[in-house]
Amino acid sequence: MPFPPVGIIGSVFWKEITQFDLVDSMSGKAIKSGIFLFFICISNQYGQKFDSLALTSPMGWNGWNSFKCRINEIVIREVADAMVTNGMKEAGYTFLVLDDCWQWGRDTNGCIVADPDRFPGGMKKLGEYIHSLGMKYGIYSDAGTSTCRGRPGSKGHEFQDAVTYASWGVDYLKYDWCSHGTQDAVSSYRLMRDALYKAGRPMVFSICEWGKNKPWEWGKDIGHLWRTTPDIIDCFDGRNIWGGMGILQIIDRMAELSSFSGPGHWNDADMLQVGNGKLTPDEERLHFSMWAMFSSPLIAGNDIRHMSDETRSILTNREVIAIDQDKLGISAFRWMKTGDLEIWVKPLDRGDFAVCLLNRGTGTIPFDQDLKMTMKNQYKLEDSYSVRDLWKHMVVGNSKEHLRGSLGPHAVMLVRLTAKTD
Ligand code: GLA
Repeated sequence: MPFPPVGIIGSVFWKEITQFDLVDSMSGKAIKSGIFLFFICISNQYGQKFDSLALTSPMGWNGWNSFKCRINEIVIREVADAMVTNGMKEAGYTFLVLDDCWQWGRDTNGCIVADPDRFPGGMKKLGEYIHSLGMKYGIYSDAGTSTCRGRPGSKGHEFQDAVTYASWGVDYLKYDWCSHGTQDAVSSYRLMRDALYKAGRPMVFSICEWGKNKPWEWGKDIGHLWRTTPDIIDCFDGRNIWGGMGILQIIDRMAELSSFSGPGHWNDADMLQVGNGKLTPDEERLHFSMWAMFSSPLIAGNDIRHMSDETRSILTNREVIAIDQDKLGISAFRWMKTGDLEIWVKPLDRGDFAVCLLNRGTGTIPFDQDLKMTMKNQYKLEDSYSVRDLWKHMVVGNSKEHLRGSLGPHAVMLVRLTAKTD
């Protein structure tokens, strides 16, 4: 029986997570008496994240680990310049992210206002400068009423802030979890995802709720990366009173989460501490190697305007970066642990493997490892691989022979096994 609607449901715009307006009405005329069933399908035009962003893990710089609140537009411009001249940009570090403390307040319309003393040129201009150097612009906010350093958060202003960021040309938003009160994490992050989508400018969305609400279980449809731990500290092995974690503590947390990470949705082991002064060069190599093994974002956290050659050579090691950026994006699993010696394996594109041997302890550990192994009943290594040391930049053997050597305190050996074609 025909039921010609003379009007249709018009545009449906989500305003907040639970609220929408029906702009038009539906009416019709029944030609016969009877009971009619209506099925109304409402689709949420904005309910998704930007796909195809972060197909490999994001790389860039964020000043928090070294500058804390001491950022301003001069520092950011100098960092941007340094990234171009010192090879960081060329090595793949493209996002330049301003963390907490750029904000100052809100104007009478509720729009977020940047600190006029620190950023007199304005945030849009700063973004233009970053873009002019071929890099991308990242910014920070918080899902609660205020940020972790007491600046205005985005709660209640999500859509407004997203539009503002889009108008400044922002490409990446790190979204923190301080002052959240009784807010629900999933809906708070989903709300900002929807706001970003509605604002229309593709932005990588970085969920930063420190692993409190298991974001690896729900973050895939909401963000492109999620922090798995409380803040990293510049320490190899230890925790501080507010829960900050050293390198080993983060590695142990990441070990449980490998299966959740992949292209477009990454476990984030937090910003790097390479070059911040407290780790030995061996510890820095271990830290950087394992972040690459996890395909974690590589977000440098040092003052890259003044880094040593050694720090620079660690951060720009292309062969290690290639492990992180491998297009399969499989996060390493711990294959073996014997005392302080651990062996981690990461399957790579084209049948290659990365194998990372690390020494957690303070003694020296000899190793004599047969690489012909079957892992997880799934990956089988046989005779036909060349073995290349990614810190020495040389082939050190093949998988027919045992891999032999020793690891000093907190040292690492990272090799790439490449399938031979002959
Ligand atoms: C939290 C985050 C850090 C940093 C600070 C800024 O602690 O986890 O990464 O953004 O806030 O206040």
